[in-house]
Amino acid sequence: MRRGSIASLVGIGVVAGGIAAAVALVFPWLPKPASREAGRIDFEFWFVVTICIVIFAIVAAAILYSIWRFRAAPDDDSDGPPIHGHTKLEIVWTIIPTILVTSIGITSAIVLARDDKTGKNYMQVDVTAQQFEWSFSYPSAHGLTSATLMLPKGRSVLLVLHSRDVIHSFWVPEFGQKEDTVPGLRTTLHITPDRLGTFPVICTELCGLGHATMRTTAVVMTPAAFNKWLKGQSKAVASPNTATAGKAVFTNNGCGACHTFAPAGTTAKIGPDLDKLAAYAQQAHQPLDAFVRTSIVSPNAYIQPGYPKNVMPQTFGTSLSKQQLDALVTYLVGGKK
Ligand code: CUA
Repeated sequence: MRRGSIASLVGIGVVAGGIAAAVALVFPWLPKPASREAGRIDFEFWFVVTICIVIFAIVAAAILYSIWRFRAAPDDDSDGPPIHGHTKLEIVWTIIPTILVTSIGITSAIVLARDDKTGKNYMQVDVTAQQFEWSFSYPSAHGLTSATLMLPKGRSVLLVLHSRDVIHSFWVPEFGQKEDTVPGLRTTLHITPDRLGTFPVICTELCGLGHATMRTTAVVMTPAAFNKWLKGQSKAVASPNTATAGKAVFTNNGCGACHTFAPAGTTAKIGPDLDKLAAYAQQAHQPLDAFVRTSIVSPNAYIQPGYPKNVMPQTFGTSLSKQQLDALVTYLVGGKK
């Protein structure tokens, strides 16, 4: 091969590889990782992408050079020269891909094994999915529940996933992994958050009409802030002051994601406006207290006109303790008796 041809081949390869690398690097294809596991997955991803770009550059160079250099003249109807195999070339293009694919396999296995390994002092968080909300409980804090996933930075966390109805899937893009929640099965996901911030929790399995709204947030805080939150929440839930306890139940169960309620400062409009409970109770011809209690435990018993049936979870009767339910009713009824 002439020196000029080699220079042209290399030139085309560098340009093609440069374009592919620009497409890979200029656009933010992946979110910035916020967990050690996502960091390892990112490493594996870029390892594979780099190999792909190099191979793409070589193939593009060979094809473009051949099209340009060996193109048949318009009046050339002759057959090409008969070519027999090239043993050396065949050995090279067998051995190099074998090495590359094997190295991808080995690095992936290491990443998978390390990502799944929980640390010695790991914290368990129980994740419950149901149409169409997430709730998180912290066994280390005696079953404290929260509608937002609160996590301390730098701690190994084992999420134990359950579903109350159909299959959902837990996904925080910045944590780099997805895991299904399956009725009757216990699935787990291990994460070690390593960046402070607020990240979206998304249901990524089509689970019904409200699938697109089945979202909440994960907050990664410093260990000190996390401990302070745990203590404050545990105290509020156990508070003898029912208004404080009721507000904690309201917040921890995500009521504000769907309902407007001025005392809690929420303005969502998916479910009925809880500032108008007294008027709704009158329409339903029921005493206010009983009406509110029934509406929490069996939401379909009375549907306020203009709002859909089956959207409010029907599980609060079992997921809330009697004390929590009492506190919540007192908080919602407030001074409006
Ligand atoms: Cu739950 Cu989609």
